Amino acid sequence: MNKLEPAITLASLHKDVRHDSGPKHVTGTAEYIDDMVEPAGTMHAYLGLSTNAHAEIINIDFSATKAAPGVIGVLTGDDIPGENDVSPSHKHDEPIFASGKVQFWGQPLFAVIAETRDQARRAAHLVKVTYKDLPVSLDVRAAQAAGGALVTEPLKLERGDVAAGMAAAPRRVKGSMAIGGQDHFYLEGQISMAVPGEDEDVTVFASTQHPSEVQLMVAQVLGIRHHAVTVNVRRMGGGFGGKETQSNLFAAVAALAAKKWNRACKLRPDRDDDMTATGKRHDFVVDYDVGYDDTGKIVAVDAVYGARAGFSSDLSGPVTDRALFHAENAYWYPAVRVRSEPLYTNTVSNTAFRGFGGPQGMLAAERWIEDIAYDLGKDPLEIRKANFYGTDTNNVTPYHQTVADNIVHRVVDELETSSDYQARRAAIVKYNAGSPILKKGIALTPVKFGISFTATWYNQAGALVHVYKDGSIHLSHGGTEMGQGLYVKVAQVLADAFGVGLDVIKIMGTSTGKVPNTSATAASSGSDLNGMAAWDAARQIKERLVVHAAQLYQCSEAAVQWVAGGIQAGDKFVPFAELAASAYLNRVQLSAAGFYQVPQIHWDRATGRGHPFYYFAYGAAVSEVTIDTLSGEYTVDRVDILHDVGRSLNPAIDIGQIEGGFIQGMGWLTTEELVWDDKGQLRTKAPSTYKIPLASDVPPVFNVKLAEWSVNKEPTIGRSKAVGEPPLMLAMSVVEALSMAVASVADYTIAPRLDTPVTPERVLMACERLKGGRQ
Ligand code: MTE
Ligand code: HPA
Ligand code: MOS
Repeated sequence: MNKLEPAITLASLHKDVRHDSGPKHVTGTAEYIDDMVEPAGTMHAYLGLSTNAHAEIINIDFSATKAAPGVIGVLTGDDIPGENDVSPSHKHDEPIFASGKVQFWGQPLFAVIAETRDQARRAAHLVKVTYKDLPVSLDVRAAQAAGGALVTEPLKLERGDVAAGMAAAPRRVKGSMAIGGQDHFYLEGQISMAVPGEDEDVTVFASTQHPSEVQLMVAQVLGIRHHAVTVNVRRMGGGFGGKETQSNLFAAVAALAAKKWNRACKLRPDRDDDMTATGKRHDFVVDYDVGYDDTGKIVAVDAVYGARAGFSSDLSGPVTDRALFHAENAYWYPAVRVRSEPLYTNTVSNTAFRGFGGPQGMLAAERWIEDIAYDLGKDPLEIRKANFYGTDTNNVTPYHQTVADNIVHRVVDELETSSDYQARRAAIVKYNAGSPILKKGIALTPVKFGISFTATWYNQAGALVHVYKDGSIHLSHGGTEMGQGLYVKVAQVLADAFGVGLDVIKIMGTSTGKVPNTSATAASSGSDLNGMAAWDAARQIKERLVVHAAQLYQCSEAAVQWVAGGIQAGDKFVPFAELAASAYLNRVQLSAAGFYQVPQIHWDRATGRGHPFYYFAYGAAVSEVTIDTLSGEYTVDRVDILHDVGRSLNPAIDIGQIEGGFIQGMGWLTTEELVWDDKGQLRTKAPSTYKIPLASDVPPVFNVKLAEWSVNKEPTIGRSKAVGEPPLMLAMSVVEALSMAVASVADYTIAPRLDTPVTPERVLMACERLKGGRQ
């Protein structure tokens, strides 16, 4: 065998490598915070929540709580040495413990610290709070009617002459669409455990997507510097955006107690308290006015996106911004004006959720596409295609970024063919004509999703790589693992860079002590950012090893080649472990900190112009449904997906993300309904009343394919594309398919007004309306 040819192929990049925690997940040995051995003397905290949505606090009587068995003490806003605030927007509008007044039902007022969790929880319920009611504003319409107070600055995106476009448009449609929120329903709820150290030090184990933010918040609350706080995250049992900021409060309370009593402290709310006290996906009401021509081409769009932000700003600014960034989905609007209203309401402060406002923005676009199609008596797919961004012309977004990587045409055409869309649609139209009760619908919807944090400074990452003398490797980076497979992808990148097997690499839990100033693992950017940072660390070590090998083996640096399993120095093959050992003996540094910043991007919010996204991820889905027009019940019978992840880092993981994202999106748009009563209390706070999709809700035919020909035009890691969020929006096709089935009862002449979630009740009511000739 030629020595220059590696004996075995170790490269794991772009391969189906299983999730590093997979076997541990299924055998129950993956360690979550509640599984960790508790330090001796660990205390337990439980939150006391308000039972009024908006009120002055007249008095809190803690006497029964303090006298309850096992109680060590009570924490309120008065016990905070630093600032009583965990606002991620730094608007100082999010107290840990409400003081003076409460602004939503379920707002934390205090925490009870006790010897056991059960004791803390029971004692928290013994408190007596006296309130004086204040007026409440609970949802988008109420907030708008009450004057439209906002939690943060709104955004406007504008391009072209909207007034002229509307005036010239031969046809107009005005409407509004209500889009529901969504609870994250991560399997592992919020949890933090804090362990005090000497001096000001504290170590926090938190279930968070954003360890550096937890570090900052704990430091701010304790009034200490960041360097005294170490935050560790091995893994989360799901985050979905719900742990980008919502973990701050839990970590801060655990840390406060740990420092006050100098004992470890753990805080884990019950599921109903978790659902009541933490933010969710924003529900929106979109009011639109769209001008179009007789062929279905859009001429002008004017729309307002009202969002229920809740009582504080949290991430409502960037979430509503992203809704506007996706107000066109994959469509070109010759003239456009879109505005956001992040509205103050007396409800929990809404937050990041997979898609981050993008799904809400796109869903409204798909609604007016439908309006146009039914008005003109055409298949909505025809209208979609007629309005797609062009590749060389008609390709400037409402935020003035040129779409330079448009592959929507090819993705949609291929899916249309592979799913046999046209023939199936014709068959369905025929079926509906002969079926008085059961009706079917089919729809193909595209997705174009912008990749990058719109907060430009977030688009950076660090990694820390140590090579030990035996050739084994420690990999740390700033990204967190929440089930999405980030850890294995970054390990694949590193294994590929060094030409070693994955077994050589130990994936370290994320720690602020290893890599500082990290961004949230969010915006689907985890592998783009951390993969590059790890690659950069490997590059530095490899460069030193090449110099070392050239000296040791008396060849030129150019003659040193990285091959599978080690290096080739001239005609000598040196296994990686041997190379590491000799590098150590020759005093070569075997550790490096890698760094990456995303190039090109910039964004000026004041002018609404820039290049906020490095690239776009594309996809399309066809869904077919059957509805029962007498009961409103329905089934999703078949789903076909073609999705673009560039050159996949790990096709098995990516397919899993697409399947999971689609099903989660389908849950959001069909069965997951959040209901607050008129006092502002969340009534759907358990799986008994809040219906997330089950395994049995997976469509019986579910064909998911990667657009294997796609390669990221930009030099991302392995030319891959982000995958975490975009597939969620493929579930819009289910709404549109339901809409077609409903429209069939009026012979497709009326566009149904289906708000989401499209529950069976909504389907039934829409059928009744259409039978009566109304939308
Ligand atoms: N997949 C799993 N299994 N669990 C999760 O919590 N979160 C999603 C997505 N996929 C999530 C998930 C969200 S909201 C984002 S932003 C991305 O994963 C984050 O990870 P990434 O950037 O590494 O893709
Ligand atoms: N996406 C997700 N999380 C974020 C973003 C974003 O664009 N900006 C700030 N946090
Ligand atoms: Mo994902 S909503 O960006 O955490």
